Amino acid sequence: MHLRSGGQEAKISRKAGQFTESVIREMTRLANKFGAVNLAQGFPDFPCPAELKEAASSAVFDDYNQYSITWGAPELRDAIAAKERAYNRIDCDPEKNIVVTCGTTEGMVASQLAILDPGDELIIISPHYENYAPDAIISGARPKYFVLSERRDKDEEFEIDEEKLKTEFGPNTRGIVINTPHNPTGKVFSMKDLKLIADLCNDYDAVCFTDEIYEHILYDGATHLSIGSFSSMQDRTVTISGFSKTYSVTGWRVGYTIASEKLTNAIKKVHDFLTVGAPHPLQMACVKALSLPESYYESLRKDYQRKRNLLLSSLEDIGFKCVKPRGAYYIWCDFSELDKTSNDVEFCMHLVEKARVAGVPGSSFFFLDGKVGGRKEIRFTFSKRIETLQAACERLKSSFA
Ligand SMILES: Cc1ncc(COP(=O)(O)O)c(C=O)c1O
Repeated sequence: MHLRSGGQEAKISRKAGQFTESVIREMTRLANKFGAVNLAQGFPDFPCPAELKEAASSAVFDDYNQYSITWGAPELRDAIAAKERAYNRIDCDPEKNIVVTCGTTEGMVASQLAILDPGDELIIISPHYENYAPDAIISGARPKYFVLSERRDKDEEFEIDEEKLKTEFGPNTRGIVINTPHNPTGKVFSMKDLKLIADLCNDYDAVCFTDEIYEHILYDGATHLSIGSFSSMQDRTVTISGFSKTYSVTGWRVGYTIASEKLTNAIKKVHDFLTVGAPHPLQMACVKALSLPESYYESLRKDYQRKRNLLLSSLEDIGFKCVKPRGAYYIWCDFSELDKTSNDVEFCMHLVEKARVAGVPGSSFFFLDGKVGGRKEIRFTFSKRIETLQAACERLKSSFA
């Protein structure tokens, strides 16, 4: 092998040149570097249920150690189909409508690669989870950002401006990405929101890519609705979800897509050549996850609601202006009362280095062709033990005392 030293640098693609590395994941690296409490990346610092650990190790000992069927172990697809029917009201066939993927992350990018063509426009509701825009760019599509309207005077704090959304759709619109419950704001999309999106998708022949990974993490009686359950949307929705958040197994990398047979056949092909398949023993453990009783989900919600309340009241006492989340496990806050001059990145760097608490800069949830939003915002996660949240709040309090 001959390695050239000096001279011309190796070329990277125009696609990869259009985005930076993930700021969320970078904040975890910085938290480790500075010994900070990590309220940046959304993963639990507590163990997953013991039954799941047992199921995963049993699957290894029971020799589920070779490739599964590319689009997912049949046992898992059967269990997902039953859960989709019961919880999401989506009627699906495990053979025709499901692809098991390496996390929701792969589900989203494989779906976009399978459905979008170069030049197609993809509307992304912002602020949004960081991956969606790079996914669109990797797929050759053109992301177009639609920003939620903020109404801090109302209960429903983030709204879709109907008239504005209508003007975003046009002849080149091929899809829209939504995420409910929503990261980072905690918005839970209402029936009115979803009907509007469904009507627009039908009028413009567009596909809705809906990321529902927080479907079980809901507060104050909020209910989760799946746009894929609407009869008008059956042929034009990809419902994407996964096991990371509901079962506290973000490192397992198991997720799935639910879509019509035609869309699923295209997603199957892309998934096959991207990854061959998700980890087989962990897929088998996910079958166990889907058999947990209703009480599991009730206590998940109760525990997270307690954590939300604790972090929310502490942040508000310190001087952050927060949006009360109705779902997911993040708090989106405005820090302008605490620091009038710094932008979001400077503020986060100061927090991680000096207060030793990591959050995520607001601008990383926007990707607005140069017009960056979130410059006075920070996102904290409460997917942590109570003691971790208390330690973070103590550090923040003394930093702003
Ligand atoms: C909205 C959203 N989608 C997807 C993911 C990643 O999901 P997975 O671990 O299933 O790839 C995250 C992780 O934070 C997320 O917030």
